[in-house]
Amino acid sequence: MLPRRWAAASALLRVPVLHRLGRNQSFAYLAARTRFYDEFVTDALDDGAEQVVVVGAGLDSRAWRLARPGATFFEVDLPATQADKRSRAPDGGPVYVAADAADPSLADKLKAAGFRADETTAFTVEGLTMYLTREEVARLLGTLASIGGPASRLAVNFGVGFERHGSRRGRFGRLAMASGGERYNFRLALADARSSSPRPVGPMKRRSQVHSSAPSTSPTPDWPASR
Ligand SMILES: C[S@@+](CC[C@H](N)C(=O)[O-])C[C@H]1O[C@@H](n2cnc3c(N)ncnc32)[C@H](O)[C@@H]1O
Repeated sequence: MLPRRWAAASALLRVPVLHRLGRNQSFAYLAARTRFYDEFVTDALDDGAEQVVVVGAGLDSRAWRLARPGATFFEVDLPATQADKRSRAPDGGPVYVAADAADPSLADKLKAAGFRADETTAFTVEGLTMYLTREEVARLLGTLASIGGPASRLAVNFGVGFERHGSRRGRFGRLAMASGGERYNFRLALADARSSSPRPVGPMKRRSQVHSSAPSTSPTPDWPASR
């Protein structure tokens, strides 16, 4: 499913002399984030969730990898991105819902696609919130919190930092996003992330790492210097 240039880049990273390039902080971060959401969905299904709603799905493959009899996956993404995925994806998989996550009528669109408000649901909002405004994030989370059946659960992650505009890392992050035609909108300030039940994770190496409720989605996570 990878576009040809990404498949080529991925093959190059397997060449021994270039292998080190693939071992940077961002890859490790994305691997940890993938595992976090995999475990979240798996636990929810083990506990009896009947629906999984993946908001801002991109090329998410959980509808195939974590599929179970009796569980329905829904994927929400913008129409153009979703059409591209559908043109390459294998058979089976999710119920596709082409919609803007910021659309106030998202709940109606999900229901029109077969989402059942009386069923236990796991919602994932992975790698999306930074593309929305603060108001859109609040509305989306409010909507998702209100439409699932009993014992529904939701996992979401936020970009953290980049507010140190003078820092090299902050400048690089913004440049990298802009060069791909993307703009960061919403992100948590470091102080807010620290105050929302921070917990240390992983081995403490060069600096402490703090996740709030879920890992940040910064392409180059800008963790607090120390705690
Ligand atoms: C960084 S990708 C994350 C994809 C996937 N969730 C993951 O973590 O690998 C962001 C995804 O959000 C989608 N997206 C961005 N803005 C959106 C919006 N307003 N409504 C729905 N999807 C959106 C993009 O099309 C893209 O697929």
